Amino acid sequence: MKKIAVLTSGGDAPGMNAAIRSVVRTCAYYKIDCVGVYRGYDGLLDADFVALDARSVRGVINKGGTFLKSARCKRFMTPEGRKIAYDNLTKAGIDGIVLIGGDGTFTGGLVFNSEYGFPVMGIPGTIDNDINGTDRTLGYDTALNTAVEAIDKIRDTAHSHDRLFFVEVMGRDVGHIAINAGIGAGAEEILVPEEDMGIDRLVESLERSKKSGKTSSIVVVAEGDKIGKSVFELKDYVDENLEEYDVRVSVLGHMQRGGSPTCYDRVLASRMGVKAVESLMEGKSNYMVGTIHDKMSLTPLEEAIKGKTKLNKELIRVSDIMTT
Ligand code: F6P
Repeated sequence: MKKIAVLTSGGDAPGMNAAIRSVVRTCAYYKIDCVGVYRGYDGLLDADFVALDARSVRGVINKGGTFLKSARCKRFMTPEGRKIAYDNLTKAGIDGIVLIGGDGTFTGGLVFNSEYGFPVMGIPGTIDNDINGTDRTLGYDTALNTAVEAIDKIRDTAHSHDRLFFVEVMGRDVGHIAINAGIGAGAEEILVPEEDMGIDRLVESLERSKKSGKTSSIVVVAEGDKIGKSVFELKDYVDENLEEYDVRVSVLGHMQRGGSPTCYDRVLASRMGVKAVESLMEGKSNYMVGTIHDKMSLTPLEEAIKGKTKLNKELIRVSDIMTT
């Protein structure tokens, strides 16, 4: 392997810069040329490449976002687009690529490899923690801490005004952020996409908590929760049905995708970058690097994109007990 490219694609996640840095420095360590691709697969199609050496990634380990930028590229979904990408890669003398992203990114990589046999290696970067084959995805730990810090602040004002807050966190298909940030921030209820709590049970629970003497409450809602109502609709419903509550809504949104990565994510990114480059050097392709029980692992990309990781049901039980 003489030249490796690295790109970030799909929704960004804290720790992506640290992962790029790790790929670049591992290449430098093994005397392999490294090339950054701007804007995900878009940059492959436009040959928007930049040579990266060990010094070009100084000062990025603690930075949120991705300096290579990210995009969701429609052109790469077409055979014509992938042909252009292949031509650009071979013209630049690149013989392997590290893809940092989520399931969409990996699906693109798999199709590309099946057509051209081009070596690809995935690093799971998404705050949602919804990729099979790793204990945690890159950015998840930071997003959790961001969410908990924000909910703590909301709790302060909820308490001062005896209010109920519906706080929406990210998680379109999975409730990992919601359940963990909810337990960590002491939420009264947590609504996740994996379970339909039902609006009646929510209302009952809020009535119970009022009777038990609670003056303020936080309900954490994953954006894809199963009750099927937005946080604003939930507010309207409670306004109509539970007069005793003064309700407010807070949508944390994209702040969860930004910010300086936690130490956990920086270390994880560094480990994943080393493993990704070394695996390509060993002639491996079509894998995603990860950690399983904290040991570095390789999972076939096909398995990594199959379904979403399951929510730990024990956490739901713990949350139920904590809200007594
Ligand atoms: O990165 C995953 C995610 O954060 C989801 O939880 C969320 O639904 C989605 O990205 C929003 O992404 P965008 O606003 O970039 O389309």
